[in-house]
Amino acid sequence: MNVLITGNMGYVGPVLVREIKRRNPKTWVAGLDSAYFAGCLLDRKSSPERYVDVQFYKDARDIAPCDFENADAVICLAALSNDPMGNRYGARTSEINYRAIERAASAAKEAGVKRFVFASSCSVYGSAENGECDESSTVNPLTEYARSKVSAEHALERFADADFRVSCFRFATACGASPRLRLDLVLNDFVASAVTRGKIEILSDGTPWRPLIDVKNMAETLAWASEQDIGEPYMILNAGSNGWNFRIKDLAQKVREVMPETEIIISPEGLPDKRSYRVRFDKFAELSKGHVKIGDVRDTIREIRGILTENSFVDANFRDSEYMRLNMLKYLESARAVDGDLRWIP
Ligand SMILES: NC(=O)c1ccc[n+]([C@@H]2O[C@H](COP(=O)([O-])OP(=O)(O)OC[C@H]3O[C@@H](n4cnc5c(N)ncnc54)[C@H](O)[C@@H]3O)[C@@H](O)[C@H]2O)c1
Repeated sequence: MNVLITGNMGYVGPVLVREIKRRNPKTWVAGLDSAYFAGCLLDRKSSPERYVDVQFYKDARDIAPCDFENADAVICLAALSNDPMGNRYGARTSEINYRAIERAASAAKEAGVKRFVFASSCSVYGSAENGECDESSTVNPLTEYARSKVSAEHALERFADADFRVSCFRFATACGASPRLRLDLVLNDFVASAVTRGKIEILSDGTPWRPLIDVKNMAETLAWASEQDIGEPYMILNAGSNGWNFRIKDLAQKVREVMPETEIIISPEGLPDKRSYRVRFDKFAELSKGHVKIGDVRDTIREIRGILTENSFVDANFRDSEYMRLNMLKYLESARAVDGDLRWIP
């Protein structure tokens, strides 16, 4: 089987490539990425891209049918992938996360691709404090990022048919170890804080709910969906686990269970974060049985701590570092490496 992954040089991509090769070393994997975060590696001695069979350095906004030649499945990860980037680069977020996905689907279908797998997000549910969202719930996107995912999902429905199957996974917030670790994700931030400063400071009252998923489980899900037909030709599925809906303050407690010396500080004047939602993953549990193995969040915490300590990570000011994706884009722009459209300047 031949798989092409757009956005493979991010946080999820390297874990996904490893998972695809683990399942079947003969699967041919191509990556396509603009490489904004190429150097954001904890271990700079080895590049995760050594595991792909071919790497294309290309902007997803320029995708054409020839990029999908011989691909059986396409997995779309390329995105400006969080709210801070979406807030600063609103128009680019819509172009990359929505218009380029629509363009990719059209090109992939024309090229004869059979399965198109799209990484959407549970953030499409926005604020839903009083209930749990399932796939039938009304979406309530509160940010540019979430709106771009809703628009992409709608656009993809038009292309889906029995010969071009589209799976949209609304992933919970990712966490866990990756060669391109991100510290702008809530659990990763907490563990990095505990490791480097011995404390976790919660910048709200700690009550908001957030569903989480280990990046390994994201990789299992995406690999599985690229290999076989799941559900209807057009499918939207929440991806995560009912037991991984956490209140932010309870998540900090989980970190303290693993690192008991950690101090937890809840900012008393902190206002509740508007983005609070609990999500039901019953349909995912049923369909993914035997394909995705959800573990214990404390093991995920141990793995994040492990990758930080193995790489002697001590930067207590990591929120100013390249491990926050927005910082990296701002840096590329200020260094005039990319222009205001986030295109590389030759
Ligand atoms: N990390 C999460 O919590 C999470 C949760 C739900 C969904 N998702 C989705 O999963 C996908 C992967 O997430 P991630 O955490 O690996 O994101 P990431 O930001 O770490 O990686 C995204 C990759 O896309 C590439 N990219 C961005 N714009 C591009 C363009 N114009 N052309 C080509 N490549 C481009 C970047 O260079 C990067 O390598 C994203 O679509 C994201 O929205 C992530």
